[in-house]
Amino acid sequence: MIDTMNIEIEQIENSKLTRVDFDDIQFGKVYSDHMFISKYRKGEWGVNKILPYRDLSISPASPSIHYGQSIFEGMKAYRSPEGEILLFRPLDNFKRLNISADRMCMPHISEEVFMEGLSQLIKLDEKWVPSAESTSLYIRPFMFSADEYIGIRPSDDFDFMIITCPVGKYYSKPVRVKIETKYARAVEGGTGYAKAGGNYGGSLYPAKLAQEKGYDQLIWTDGKEHKYIEEAGTMNVLFVLDDVLVTAPAGDTILKGITRDSVLTLARDWGMKVEERKLEVTELIDAIKSGRLKEAFGAGTAATIAHIATIGHEGVDYDLPKKPADAFSNRILNELDAIRTGRKEDKFGWVYKVK
Ligand code: COI
Repeated sequence: MIDTMNIEIEQIENSKLTRVDFDDIQFGKVYSDHMFISKYRKGEWGVNKILPYRDLSISPASPSIHYGQSIFEGMKAYRSPEGEILLFRPLDNFKRLNISADRMCMPHISEEVFMEGLSQLIKLDEKWVPSAESTSLYIRPFMFSADEYIGIRPSDDFDFMIITCPVGKYYSKPVRVKIETKYARAVEGGTGYAKAGGNYGGSLYPAKLAQEKGYDQLIWTDGKEHKYIEEAGTMNVLFVLDDVLVTAPAGDTILKGITRDSVLTLARDWGMKVEERKLEVTELIDAIKSGRLKEAFGAGTAATIAHIATIGHEGVDYDLPKKPADAFSNRILNELDAIRTGRKEDKFGWVYKVK
């Protein structure tokens, strides 16, 4: 055991790095050598550890298994042309994790533990950060109940962990999405704005039905009337209507995406008109029919910018026009890539260098 600051580190004996084909990285298939863990017991966080990545031992009575008391974040590290390792907006992930923690009756994690755990873990596994175009190290911080109790009540004990894996593109080509008008992902007053595990578990069945019909993903609508466009579950959705960038306001039912915010910030900086407003499904379909809809795309950490090729609604598939190379979503993707990899000035202070 080596002691580094307040993190105990146990290093792996044989790295799994040789098992990774960096020319063909599959999303979420191979995990880096180490993981970070901190345990919350008797009302306080204990020793911070970096251990070899391995299976956990968990009580079969854990409320995280039975009741989904678990939350997570998704973030990425990139390699700059000079070989430095850069994190994109990690403090925003840190803040959002604690927002999710409040909603799910979990304790806050401190900025120091989050940032120091993250930095030391990534430094130790730095060879896992790929450098090819469209690749990065995906980082998954998460927290779950570690109680042994199957009664329903907020837990006392929690584990906070970080695991990482090298990734390529989440969607390898422009996606076909279906506007969901039967099932709901979130309702006002629910947990839609939190990154809570159950939000994703509940989306699997409707998404599977759509996948059986040839779609990649759903665009969720509001849970009450199915009248307004919300988000896609793995990403927020944005539209260029005429020359205005339109997306749903990030309220109670929509995850406040960090990529979403980055796109809106860059668009405003470029002088584009941006509207965060309710968008009716009928307005969107009319805009496709009349040619007002120029572009539709998803924005998320895993998905980055995912072009939408087809939107399905009530049995009709609408193919969107092919995007020119200088389309807004292409320019945004290039700009974000350049900022995240340190090839372009970081004027918004989004990039954090791992030292
Ligand atoms: C992310 O973009 O990081 C997400 O959390 C989406 C995920 C469910 C793949």
